[in-house]
Amino acid sequence: MFDALTTEAHKSLEKAFGPVLEEVQWQYPREAGRGDIATSAALSLAKKLGKQPREIAQVLAASLASVPDVERTEVAGAGYVNVWLKPQALLAALGASRKAQATKAKGHAKGKRPVIIDYSAPNIAKPLGIHHILSTVIGQSLANLYRSEGIPTVGINHLGDWGTQFGKLAVAMEKWGAGKTVASLGMDGLLALYVRFHEEAEKDPSLEQEALASFRKLEEGDDAMRTFWNEVVQATMASVQRIYDRLHVSFDAVQGESFYEDKMAPVIAEGKEKNVFVPGEEGALIVAFPEEEQLPPYMVVKSDGATLYATRDLATIRYRVDTWHPQAILYVVDVAQQLHFRQLFATASRLGWDVPHLEHVVFGRMRFADASMSTRKGNILKLEDVLDEAVRRAREVIAAHGETIQTDDEASLAEMMGVGALVYGILSQNRKMDIVFDWDKMLSFEGNSAPYLQYTHARARSVLRKAAVKKTPFPKDVSALQPSERLLLKDLLLFPAAVEEARNTHMPHKLANHLYQLCQDFNAFYNIEPILKAEGDTRAFRLALTAETADVLRAGAELLTMRVPDRM
Ligand code: ARG
Repeated sequence: MFDALTTEAHKSLEKAFGPVLEEVQWQYPREAGRGDIATSAALSLAKKLGKQPREIAQVLAASLASVPDVERTEVAGAGYVNVWLKPQALLAALGASRKAQATKAKGHAKGKRPVIIDYSAPNIAKPLGIHHILSTVIGQSLANLYRSEGIPTVGINHLGDWGTQFGKLAVAMEKWGAGKTVASLGMDGLLALYVRFHEEAEKDPSLEQEALASFRKLEEGDDAMRTFWNEVVQATMASVQRIYDRLHVSFDAVQGESFYEDKMAPVIAEGKEKNVFVPGEEGALIVAFPEEEQLPPYMVVKSDGATLYATRDLATIRYRVDTWHPQAILYVVDVAQQLHFRQLFATASRLGWDVPHLEHVVFGRMRFADASMSTRKGNILKLEDVLDEAVRRAREVIAAHGETIQTDDEASLAEMMGVGALVYGILSQNRKMDIVFDWDKMLSFEGNSAPYLQYTHARARSVLRKAAVKKTPFPKDVSALQPSERLLLKDLLLFPAAVEEARNTHMPHKLANHLYQLCQDFNAFYNIEPILKAEGDTRAFRLALTAETADVLRAGAELLTMRVPDRM
């Protein structure tokens, strides 16, 4: 973006000090009064050149000041060079970056290999628990980020819809289901049966055998079992879909573990033939890793011949690679499965498969600031209930704000705020750390929260409504910038970089942080500078900044799976 500056910097350094084999890097200072861009090149070059950093910085500052786009430069601190750009240069950069972003989004997607994102993936026959929100929204926001950059993306829901738990459920249904249908039991009824099975099996271990036999019947294609299984899958999907809709989550494919039922045999045969799968105890098949890999053996077929989660995940890789030829497969899954994925990836490579980049995108555990949430012991905290609770609390917040919040549709505002608060509360935290769940913080109007972002967006839209203009282009002539305008402009300019960084590192909170900064800088600008009461080009310029802010906030929020209101 600032090639002319980089070229000039290199030229002047070379003239003063001879060939300099280091590229000048630019930073974007956050604080006002430090320029639009800055470099610490003088500091890192000082040693190599045997000069004082400030001496080098002086040379740089003097030469950069002569670049047409530059307003002024200064040497600061131990040897930083801060550069202020002319308003036109900043505006031109903003325009160019918008154009580049649009081109990217339209994506020369054709011919590009997609990125597969495996997320949400609940186990069926149970209602979604609060912890499911993590994989679900982190995964969805990564998919949104990739798509926004024109990278084709396949989002897949790898449902846990196969395995011995079905045998257990079938046995429980038969014994204690009182002849009810799956539909009438619902998710809660099914969960209760499943829990009951475990209680009873502690007293009577033979139930486990019954469950295994029952699952085998399912595997062998028994009609009644198939029908039952199908009903459970349908009922689960229907209940889960309601939640996905509220979270703005969707998939390109729902391919659960059952999808791989007939795709495991060839993989097992291949593994045996290549001597990667070797006999373990009692006739099981395992992968034994060489010492230096420091991985425990990985079971791929049980001693009774049954396949496992691992077997299905291997078949899944094979299928995905053959079907989509992806450039990467990302698994957005709880850190508890770290070992599984290390073994899985290592096995794929020992099979000699030509696999793409495979990554386990881990996230931390959820911690509750509110003790009452973690202590409802035994019972899972259902995601749907937590969503409802969030919306109820949002309604209270709206009521408490009285006249300051204006809406013609309180119910949908509360839904947007409550669900947004939850989602943003998660996505604004570093996913690698424990994720702290704190109602007050999530619903606050002041801090780094969804309501703050939503309110800022609505405020910007409200200014635009009152301005009653159709279009808000930047005026041709902008001679001087106020400090708050300069900061805001720079946030807008750096939005694509924030998106790219969040996408590249698979860290949505980096985008959230940027949006938070943008909100703060917009509100500072709004409080200091008159917008509607300004005149001529100044008014036009400030309206353009306001419109850009609103658009960026909306786009950014949507990347984080949120929605923002026009009024509030
Ligand atoms: N169903 C699994 C669970 O709830 C997560 C599946 C993740 N995806 C995968 N390909 N293994 O723990």
